[in-house]
Amino acid sequence: MSAGFDRVRPIAWTDEGLELLDQRLLPGEERYLLCQDVAAVAAAIRDMVVRGAPAIGIAAAYAVVLAARARYAASPLDWRGAFAEDLARLAESRPTAVNLGWALARMRPLLDGLDGDPEPALLAEAERIHSEDLATNRRMGELGAACIEGPTAVLTHCNTGSLATGGYGTALGVIRSAWAAGKLSRVYADETRPWLQGARLTAWELGRDEIPVCLLADAAAPALMRQGGLSWVIVGADRITANGDVANKIGTYGLALAARAHGLRFMVVAPTSTVDMSLASGDSIPIESRPAEEVLQLGGQPVAAVGAEAWNPVFDVTPAEYVDVLVTERGVVERPNPERMAGLLARG
Ligand code: MRU
Repeated sequence: MSAGFDRVRPIAWTDEGLELLDQRLLPGEERYLLCQDVAAVAAAIRDMVVRGAPAIGIAAAYAVVLAARARYAASPLDWRGAFAEDLARLAESRPTAVNLGWALARMRPLLDGLDGDPEPALLAEAERIHSEDLATNRRMGELGAACIEGPTAVLTHCNTGSLATGGYGTALGVIRSAWAAGKLSRVYADETRPWLQGARLTAWELGRDEIPVCLLADAAAPALMRQGGLSWVIVGADRITANGDVANKIGTYGLALAARAHGLRFMVVAPTSTVDMSLASGDSIPIESRPAEEVLQLGGQPVAAVGAEAWNPVFDVTPAEYVDVLVTERGVVERPNPERMAGLLARG
C-alpha cells in the first residue's frame, strides 16, 4: 500500500466555516469552497460541489452548526423558529439521498432541553457523524472484500469513494480493501453520464492511490460482462428501503439486470444511515430530476441538436431481487428482503 493511500478528504471544518472540495472542478483543479452559512452549504449540495450520499449527510450536519450559530447570535432568546426554517430549506437541497434527512434527525434532539449557546453540542455531534462515517467505511471495506474471491476484475459505477463520504468510501472502500488484499486483477469504472463521476472522480482518486482503473462508456458494461473475467459489480446507494430495494446513480438498475443475465454477482455497499425503514419499497423513493441541460451539454458546451428535449432522472431503483449481497457496517445480508432488512437493523 502506498504512503498516500486514501488521503482525499472532501469536507473539513475550520475556524472559518465549512470547507468543501469543489467536485465540479475535479480532476482539473483542486479548490476548496468556504461555506460560512447554511444557505451556502444548501447551495453547494444542490449544485454538486459536495455529492455522494454520506458526504451530503456530513455537510448537512455541519450546516446545522452554521445555522444555529447565526440564529443564536442574532437572537439568543428566540432563535429556534428561524433555525427550524433553515433546516427545512436545507432538507430540500437534494431529495434522494436519505443521509441528509438522517443527519438532520440526529442533530435535532440535541436541542431538547438545551439552554444557552447550542453550537458546542451541535459541533461535537457533527464531528462524530463525520468520524463515524470513516470508521464505518473501513469496516464495510473489510466485510465486502471478504466476500470476493480473487483474483478477479470488478466493475463500479459513479463515485462512491473518499470524495463521496467522510473518507475511504463505500463501494470504492471495498475495492480499496480488495485491491490491498491482492484480490483484484482489474478495476473497471463506468464514466457515469451526465456528471461523469466515474471518469472525473473515481479515476482521479484511484489514481492517487496508485490503483489502476479502466474507464468505459456506461453503455459498454454489458459487453464487458459478456467478455468474461469479471465476477462482481460493486456499487453504493442513496437510499435503501425496508424491502431491500436500492436507489443509486442512474444506470445502476441496468447494471444489475446485465449482471444477473451474465452470472455476475451484484454487491451494494452502504452504511445503515442510507437505510430508510419508513419506506416499504423503492416505489416511494423520491427520484431527483435535474435540468435537461446536464444531458444536452457537456462541460457547458452544447452537444445535442437544437430543439431536442432531455429526460434526466439522476437515480434509479434496483429491485431487491437483483441484489446478491448488501454490505453495511452492521454486517452482510444476502438477497435482502423485509425480514433480513429488519434483522440487520436489529443488530444495533
Ligand atoms: O449524484 P451523486 O454524485 O450525488 O450520486 C452519488 C451516487 O449515486 C453514489 O453511488 C451514492 O451516493 C453512494 S456514495 C458512497
